[in-house]
Amino acid sequence: MKFFVDTANLDQIKEAQDLGILDGVTTNPSLMAKEGITGEANVRNHYKAICEIVDGDISAEVIATDFDEMIKEGKALADLHENIVVKVPMTKDGVKAIRWFTDHDIRTNCTLVFSAGQAILAAKAGATYLSPFIGRVDDMNWDGVDLIAQIADIYTIQGFQTEILAASIRNPLHIVRAAEAGADVVTCPLSSILGLLKHPLTDIGLAKFLADHKKANS
Ligand code: G3P
Repeated sequence: MKFFVDTANLDQIKEAQDLGILDGVTTNPSLMAKEGITGEANVRNHYKAICEIVDGDISAEVIATDFDEMIKEGKALADLHENIVVKVPMTKDGVKAIRWFTDHDIRTNCTLVFSAGQAILAAKAGATYLSPFIGRVDDMNWDGVDLIAQIADIYTIQGFQTEILAASIRNPLHIVRAAEAGADVVTCPLSSILGLLKHPLTDIGLAKFLADHKKANS
């Protein structure tokens, strides 16, 4: 399973990269706005800066909602760096754009996915990655991880090559459950990745080892 970090914060991206477990980065317009990155030129420079930190797939989202503009914007984003994956929303024009990008060897991440039907359409259009938002499904009182499992079953049965990228991850348990459910990728806030480290018995055990070592060597 690949690990992506879901942020536009360069310090957090560097910290995740330094852990040695990072395979890529996802961003979205909300995450860019949160970092105060505004204006087309600044956003593009920011993507280039991310590509310099991480040697892996970097999702860059189109803002356009109509087909022609999505193609124009997606081509410009893909030209920024060979690791850019164009992130396209799950809409009618988005599906058409994913098909166009697929036919022109531009990799895509289909975002804002909330159902198995949407997952089938994106895979048929040739999406490289599919981003079901599990946290937002949970917010609606459904089980986001169940959706990952359902899509994983369908993709296996049908032989679709699209990689399932579990997104909208809110905590470490989401990561573990997405892995169990068959996600190919998890994109997580840095806090959720670091949360995987935590176990009180590790802390207690380490303290005891160090205390015993000190006693024996003093
Ligand atoms: O990967 C999508 C993610 O950024 C959305 O997360 O927590 O806003 O639902 P959230």
